[in-house]
Amino acid sequence: MSDLAKEMSVVNAGSSVSVENMAHWNDFYNEVPAPLNYAEVISGVRKFIQDAKQECARVAVVTSGGTMVPLEQLTVRFVDNFSSGTRGAASTEYFLDEGYKVVFLNRQKSIQPYARHIPSVLDVLELDRETNVKVKSCHASKIQSVLESYEKYKSSCFAITYESLGDYLWLLKGISTELNSIGASGMLYLAAAVSDFYIPKNDMPEHKIQSDRRPEITFSLVPKMLRPLVKEWAPEAYIISFKLETDPNILLQKAEKALKLYQHNMVIANMLTTRKKTVTAVERTGEVVKIDNHDEDKEIESLIVNLVKEKHSKYIQELSAKSPFP
Ligand code: PMT
Repeated sequence: MSDLAKEMSVVNAGSSVSVENMAHWNDFYNEVPAPLNYAEVISGVRKFIQDAKQECARVAVVTSGGTMVPLEQLTVRFVDNFSSGTRGAASTEYFLDEGYKVVFLNRQKSIQPYARHIPSVLDVLELDRETNVKVKSCHASKIQSVLESYEKYKSSCFAITYESLGDYLWLLKGISTELNSIGASGMLYLAAAVSDFYIPKNDMPEHKIQSDRRPEITFSLVPKMLRPLVKEWAPEAYIISFKLETDPNILLQKAEKALKLYQHNMVIANMLTTRKKTVTAVERTGEVVKIDNHDEDKEIESLIVNLVKEKHSKYIQELSAKSPFP
């Protein structure tokens, strides 16, 4: 049985979605248009990655937030995957602290690095007789330290926003292809919550679905893009995917299955309800590291990034030892 056939039977188990709906990954791109600014964004990414290469810096592509799947062509309604964007935004800050350059591919209006530490403007500002508006004194020192970090790192982070699943997958393909030009120094850290279902354009109503009868919606399966990502777009990069489940009994076996199927480097497995306290990193080599955060003042992302950086360093060393060039 081919890998793809195996995957289809796994995905299809117990589901009423027919297996014929699992298209080849290329069909998805033939069917779903690229975002309008695609060429411009990818040329910006190319320059950012080439500049990082000149500086011999590592680059982490961090994906973050949910992916929206429209139900109508003129979209009023859509389905979404859960993700606030905290994992991606917090990890971005820790990668920058560790000297990485970061391409931050994030869902519009999701949680943002640095900005996430500052409460809403209406809470931090107040009217003032002399200057008209000023920062409330109780927030001043926190805002100052956040701004200092932001100023220090802003040129090391290239942020790109997306909204729909189609835009996300187009941008992921373009960015990872560019990332491959720096070989093992590149890392993909796929924290975005990516939909497994979509409606191809030909099956999607043009106008708002009317509520005079029960709607019938048929989703197609989105091909797992980890496959071409590892095999074709960025075969040399260090690739980490996240696995989100709500049933603890299947979490680790799903993580191991993903590593066997796609042959990438690491899966970080997390449960929806405990994702801020505990995750398990499973490597293709079979090594399993459980990360528990017991420290109220620490974020689990700082521990995840520490581990990931260490594993990435090892990967770079191993690959350079194999390379015929000094
Ligand atoms: O943002 P927060 O609120 O902080 O939450 C963080 C998180 C829980 C969203 C994050 O830690 C997380 O688990 N993200 C991955 C969610 C997800 O898409 O899991 P999954 O089990 O559905 O998919 C597994 C992997 O397959 C993902 O890395 C995804 O990139 C990949 N995938 C998914 C669908 C698809 N068609 N192709 C893919 O390659």
